[in-house]
Amino acid sequence: MASEESWWQTAVVYQVYIRSFADGNGDGIGDIAGLRSKLPYLARLGVDAIWINPWYPSPMADAGYDVADYRDIEPAYGTLDEAQALIAEAHDLGIRVILDIVPNHTSDQHAWFRSALRDEPGARERYLFRPGRGDGGELPPNNWQSVFGGPAWTRVDAGPLEGAWYLHLFAPGQPDLNWEHAQVRAEFEDILAFWFDRGVDGFRIDVAHGLVKAVGLPDEAADDGSAHAMLQSQSRHPAWDQDGVHEIYRGWRAVADRYAPERIFIAEAWVPSNERLARYLRADELHTAFQFDFLRSPWRAETLREVIDDAIVSAASVGAPPTWVLSNHDVTRTVTRFSRSQPEHLVDTDWERGRWSGEEPDHGLGRRRARAAALVQLALPGTAYVYQGEELALEEIEDLPDETRQDPTWAQSGFTDVGRDGCRIPLPWHDSGATYGFSTGSGASTWLPQPDHWGEHSVETQDADAASTLNLYRAALELRPSLWRGAGEVTWLQVTPDVAAFTRGAAQCWVNTGQAAVALPPGAVVALASAPGVDTELPPDTAVWLRAT
Ligand code: BGC
Repeated sequence: MASEESWWQTAVVYQVYIRSFADGNGDGIGDIAGLRSKLPYLARLGVDAIWINPWYPSPMADAGYDVADYRDIEPAYGTLDEAQALIAEAHDLGIRVILDIVPNHTSDQHAWFRSALRDEPGARERYLFRPGRGDGGELPPNNWQSVFGGPAWTRVDAGPLEGAWYLHLFAPGQPDLNWEHAQVRAEFEDILAFWFDRGVDGFRIDVAHGLVKAVGLPDEAADDGSAHAMLQSQSRHPAWDQDGVHEIYRGWRAVADRYAPERIFIAEAWVPSNERLARYLRADELHTAFQFDFLRSPWRAETLREVIDDAIVSAASVGAPPTWVLSNHDVTRTVTRFSRSQPEHLVDTDWERGRWSGEEPDHGLGRRRARAAALVQLALPGTAYVYQGEELALEEIEDLPDETRQDPTWAQSGFTDVGRDGCRIPLPWHDSGATYGFSTGSGASTWLPQPDHWGEHSVETQDADAASTLNLYRAALELRPSLWRGAGEVTWLQVTPDVAAFTRGAAQCWVNTGQAAVALPPGAVVALASAPGVDTELPPDTAVWLRAT
């Protein structure tokens, strides 16, 4: 076990969706050059680390989560030398670098899959090829559905494997690997070492709960094999969260533990309960795992208290820090989630955008709540992830023209699910200009279109406004170490049902999700508030940090 002081136990990690962060060569696609140029921005923001979404060569069937070569850099993003320079420059600024590893599947353009399709000796066993059902094998081998919609199987239509089906829990361009195969296990341990040797501080593990499938790939018992249910839900599914996956992570932990300074893992694991999540965090497995119930919580004090307590208790049961996340590149942006009337239950799925409410969003309301939620997130014990653009309070762009949509979800769902493009719009850096400063030089357009009002939310505009969300985040990250680091356990205060208020050490965090202002404790000193003018009362949709006098 790591010592109490380890950086990753209290870190604030900034998620860089590289394609949309900053473009250094004017082609409308974010890249390493753009990211390097903005490292001073991230240092000033005050983050401890960055997590970079996949930057490996990829045909982009799923925005880089279809990896063709795990030991190189996508040419549109730069080169291995530039990656190396980025790691060094980030370290010089005190920022650690976490990469995204995609072990559940490769690209269909990966050398292994290509040799499998050529039926080279030993190649097809690394994937999950199966004969079809039905007289002519014309039906998929089981009833599993892809997370993006449609069957999780595609039939090979030519070559030596013609007629066989292969499993892809995501897009057809993302064939699932066979993790029962010793070569697959050895290969990924070697890939980890390749990047650790280059100074990388850790990995976010994509679909960490998916690698091992139930023996025999049985049909899913539930009605339609729906993969959406698999990601977030309460039920068990033969493709997800199988006990055999833990042995893989014990092997990965042994690789990480060979290195100093410490190298760490963060799991993306959508599992049915926090008890199941804690299994990934046992002492000889992974260091941290995203707490998605916090992200799924509606704007209700009672639910917030419940998800916070449950996350803390279950992480503590295995000695791990809880890991708080409000949004990422797969879910509706926080501002927009909070800009409509709130459900009673955890938000069911963000993978089906635009369906959870037909109501017009009130972005002003959503922004006030998102700012307040950020103060709650950053006051909690453990680690916090901030998705790029959250510090600008960007909203989801829900009205992208259909012809511009890139997420495979759109086509695979038969054009019924708009997918995740709306939270991936290139960032606005300047208040005006063709790409709002996203692209340098003559860049005139971006890979996803930016809306006309994007400049209002730009870094330039918010820099100049003391009350902006950007400056709120800066202030919060500056205060966080002195107010909250090492401050100890969360103890709830009884205020009203609509207020979640807790002490940690000498400091308090209060959030009001109700409709009436509440009195703050007499003599309390406001260290930071999510809205202007908070003094003796906490208005609705506002959070505050208090310190002892
Ligand atoms: C990533 C997604 C990706 C999927 C398949 C995830 O959970 O975060 O963006 O589409 O894995 O790799």
